[in-house]
Amino acid sequence: MLDVQMLTKRFGDKTAVENVSFNIDRSMMIGVIGRSGAGKSTLLRALNCLSDVTSGSITFEGQEITGLKGAARRNWQSRCAMIFQQFNLVPRMDVVSNVLHGTLNRRSTLATMFNLYPDSDIHKAIEILDRLGIAEQAEKRAEALSGGQQQRVAIARALMQDPQIILADEPIASLDPMNAQIVMQALRRIHEEDGRMVIANLHTLDTARRYCDRVIGMRDGRVVFDGTPEQLTTGAARDIYGAGADFSEAATSTEIETLDRSQTYAAETYA
Ligand SMILES: Nc1ncnc2c1ncn2[C@@H]1O[C@H](COP(=O)(O)OP(=O)(O)OP(=O)(O)O)[C@@H](O)[C@H]1O
Ligand SMILES: [Mg+2]
Repeated sequence: MLDVQMLTKRFGDKTAVENVSFNIDRSMMIGVIGRSGAGKSTLLRALNCLSDVTSGSITFEGQEITGLKGAARRNWQSRCAMIFQQFNLVPRMDVVSNVLHGTLNRRSTLATMFNLYPDSDIHKAIEILDRLGIAEQAEKRAEALSGGQQQRVAIARALMQDPQIILADEPIASLDPMNAQIVMQALRRIHEEDGRMVIANLHTLDTARRYCDRVIGMRDGRVVFDGTPEQLTTGAARDIYGAGADFSEAATSTEIETLDRSQTYAAETYA
């Protein structure tokens, strides 16, 4: 289905993604893990055609994705919806209208300007919100919702596009554990019930293990692990995160970063 070959993305001297190759042959839920700066977001953005790549190729069902322009690019982007850590909703707009925004790239600017959504789209939006357990919030402003509810609105907006792939960049990084679980379960259900592929950059190891069928570990722009949650041992995780013996299974990439910084600080203090 999705084939990535020797993908490289440079920003000036900085190689954010380096010769990344992997093949996903059936719809799965995939977690991408790695410490801050490993290249996870850059990889997702390349998959979504949000940024051009330096070299390499991405094909989906045989179609080359890299280098798509104009309508072909927009068409691809509607087939692989993206959700973000910060939800990216319009805060003052009501929930249904936010969800209907997911239909934007197949509607004319004029219709959008006058907010003319067909009844069928409105019904579909409510149905999706209902499925995600937030239909009763439909008329509220997005900003009045909790983080977990807002992320479900963002998922609903993505589902309006009826995408084959959902790309999620740290979808639960801003949520408390309870809401994080609700959002991950929603993504898992969407994968299982609709057969959509989900690729999520994840902050914590246990989330990747718990919800994903396959985990891709990145370090310094390269794929250093690609396997099942069972294969993701503590040793493998330590390698992905480049962490020392004090590496804790429960640690997040941010915590590891902080740990590193405090160690550097301690070293400087005692020097
Ligand atoms: N637009 C850009 N211009 C210059 N450098 C960039 C740009 N985007 C990313 N980078 C660099 O590329 C590397 C990978 O960044 P990326 O955002 O993909 O990492 P990440 O794994 O998503 O990290 P995080 O966990 O912090 O989100 C980093 O060193 C980053 O500074
Ligand atoms: Mg990122």
